[in-house]
Amino acid sequence: MKAIGGYFELELNKGEEYHKKAISLNTGRNALEYILLANGYKKIYLPFFTCDVLLEPIQKLKIEVVFYNINELLEPVFDFNSIKHNEAFLYTNYFGLKDSYINVLAKSCKNLIIDNAQSFYSKPIKGVDTFYSPRKFFGVPDGAYLYSNKNLDIDLEKDVSYNRFEHLLRRIDTSAEDGYSYFKENDEKLSKQPIKKMAKLTQLILSNIDYRSCANKRRQNFNYLHDILNKTNLLEVVVQGESVPMVYPYWCEDIGLRERLINNKVYTATYWPNILEWCTKDDLEFKLASDIVYLPIDQRQTEKELVEIIKIIKNEY
Ligand SMILES: Cc1ncc(COP(=O)(O)O)c(C=O)c1O
Repeated sequence: MKAIGGYFELELNKGEEYHKKAISLNTGRNALEYILLANGYKKIYLPFFTCDVLLEPIQKLKIEVVFYNINELLEPVFDFNSIKHNEAFLYTNYFGLKDSYINVLAKSCKNLIIDNAQSFYSKPIKGVDTFYSPRKFFGVPDGAYLYSNKNLDIDLEKDVSYNRFEHLLRRIDTSAEDGYSYFKENDEKLSKQPIKKMAKLTQLILSNIDYRSCANKRRQNFNYLHDILNKTNLLEVVVQGESVPMVYPYWCEDIGLRERLINNKVYTATYWPNILEWCTKDDLEFKLASDIVYLPIDQRQTEKELVEIIKIIKNEY
């Protein structure tokens, strides 16, 4: 029986999750494991340009992996006719900017898996296995959503997430710098976990988000930077009406930019550090990881922060 009375729990509103009809799991990588298991795939085609944690389920299930390259539009250089019935092809919705392409891809690529870790708001395409990792968009330490054509007939334990919140709490109470080592630590804790159901605490927090206003803010911030930086951006960024981007990818020849941003406390992630080991300097993927600065456009940024970022880029600070 549930306890009645006594001390209070963290007070949270009971709103709705964005992906209400999805299967809620503990991590994006485990959502991939779920798909691989449910379909009995023996081989997977994976882009070089992705995060190495995706190898966790592949290695665990001893599935063969073949890497493929992408072009400057971040689209696969690949013959889709070569995919056999027991092989899967994974494509990442890069930075939430590839919705239109995915609609086309879904028509020509069989056994497609869409990794929407970077595109929380994209709707799944009917019949295409698709997963999400909400912690890339919102202040939660873990969690995943999965739309799968097949259900795994196994009982999943429910995750608990209370012990992975310290970076989120410190960032509010003290500072981003103070919380950073805890962020790394809590990130590490997601490694080598079995597939579990999403923790109740994570799920409640994901039921507390104003998804519409976060989406609008992201689009607005993205467009603001794009209007100013478009002309000097070496990456062709196509703004898509309804899509909700994760970051603004800015590829310029200013090699000191990332460091200048850090020195001014503007933190940008590298997507992904493992590429610098997997690829060589001549590969496009290497350049995407080393030369592009992924500028923050999330719901926390107001015009004031964006103006700061532009000043640093233009060396006018
Ligand atoms: C593109 C991409 N896909 C999947 C994942 C895995 O998500 P999770 O950390 O929730 O397992 C990550 C990063 O962690 C990622 O960057």
